[in-house]
Amino acid sequence: MGSATHTSDATGLGPIVLGIESSCDETAVALVRADRTIIAQAIASQEAEHAPYGGVVPEIAARAHAERVAPMIEAVMGQAGLTLDDVDAIAATAGPGLVGGVMVGLVSAKALAMASGKPLLAINHLEGHALSPRLADEGLAFPYLLLLVSGGHCQILAVDGVGQYRRLATTIDDALGEAFDKTAKLLGLGYPGGPAVERLARDGDPKAVPLPRPLKGSAEPHFSFAGLKSAVLRAVESGAHDPADIAASFQQAAVDCLIDRLDYALTRAGPFPALVVAGGVAANQTVRAALEAFAHRHAMRFTAPPLALCTDNAAMIAWAGCERLASEEWGAGADFTGDPLDFVARPRWPLDPQAETARGAGVKA
Ligand code: KG4
Ligand code: ZN
Repeated sequence: MGSATHTSDATGLGPIVLGIESSCDETAVALVRADRTIIAQAIASQEAEHAPYGGVVPEIAARAHAERVAPMIEAVMGQAGLTLDDVDAIAATAGPGLVGGVMVGLVSAKALAMASGKPLLAINHLEGHALSPRLADEGLAFPYLLLLVSGGHCQILAVDGVGQYRRLATTIDDALGEAFDKTAKLLGLGYPGGPAVERLARDGDPKAVPLPRPLKGSAEPHFSFAGLKSAVLRAVESGAHDPADIAASFQQAAVDCLIDRLDYALTRAGPFPALVVAGGVAANQTVRAALEAFAHRHAMRFTAPPLALCTDNAAMIAWAGCERLASEEWGAGADFTGDPLDFVARPRWPLDPQAETARGAGVKA
C-alpha cells in the first residue's frame, strides 16, 4: 500500500479517511479505515424539506447542507473518539451534482485540510458509487462490470481499476431513478418515488399494461426512459388500469431494458468475472433479483452493496479516498499531498472523459 506523506497509520490497520457527501439531498459524514471498517457515520436526509415540491430544490438543499455539515462532522468525530490528528486525509464529493451543495461539503473539507495539514481528496461522487461495492465485498477484485443506477445517472461502466473507468452505456434522456420518481408522481405516490413504486408494484401484475422497452435490441448501446415515462402517463390518463398494475408493468419494462443493455455491453466488452450494481435504484428488490439471475446465467460473481451503501452516503466517499491513498497508479505515492485547495466544484464530471457524447439533449455524462 502506498503511504501518503501525512499518513500516520497509528493503529497499524491502515489510513483513516474522513468523508463528506453533499451533492444532492443527503448530508453525510463518515470515518472509514482502509481495512474496510466504517468507524462512525451520520446521515441526514432532506426528504421532508423537498417533499412539498416533488423533487430536490437546489437552494433549499444547499442551505440545509450548510446548516448541518459542521455539527455532523463534530458528532462523527466525537462518536469515534478521534481528533483530526488521527485522520490521514479529508475526502469530499467535488462533483457531479447540485453545485451549491457540493460547494458546502468541499469547502468544509478544504477548511479541515487547511487547519490540520492533512491532504484534501476531491472525490467524484460516481467513483464513490463505483467503488463502494469493494467496501462491502473484500473479495471483489478488478475488473468488474458496473451498473450505476441512481436519480441522476444510468450507466454501464467497465471498472478496470481505481481511476480506470470505461463508459459502455449511458442514458440519452432520463436516469432510471428519475423515471421511477416521475412514475411515482404520475401515480400520485409522492417523493422519493422509487421505494413507493416498488411497494405498489408488489400488488400489481407486471404483464397487465403494455409498455415500451425503449432502445431494446438497438445497436446503439445506451438507455432511454423518456418514452416509457410518456407511455406511463398515457396509461394513467386512460383510466383503464389499476395503479398497482401500472407500477408493476413499469418496473418490469425498466428491468427488461436494464438486462437487454447489460447483455449488449457484455457482448461488446465482455467477458467480466463480476457484475456489480450501485446507486439508489439498486435498493429495488426486483431489479436486484433480475441482475442476480443475469449474473448467474453468465457465470459472473454478483455484488450488490447493502442498501445503506447503495443510496447516497459518505462512507463510499471516504472509501474512495482510502482506495486512492492505496493506489500508486493514481498518484498517491510517497510525495502525495492530495488535491489542491483551490479545486473547483464540478456540476458535471464524467468518470470516463474519453467516452463519446451520446445523442440526446438531456444527456447526463
Ligand atoms: O443514489 P441515490 O441515492 O442518489 C442519486 O441520485 O445520486 O439515488 C436516488 C434515486 C431516486 O431516484 C430514488 O427514487 C431511487 O434512487 N430509488 C429507488 C428505490 N430506492 C431509491 N428506485 C427504485 N426502487 C427503489 N426501491
Ligand atoms: Zn448518488
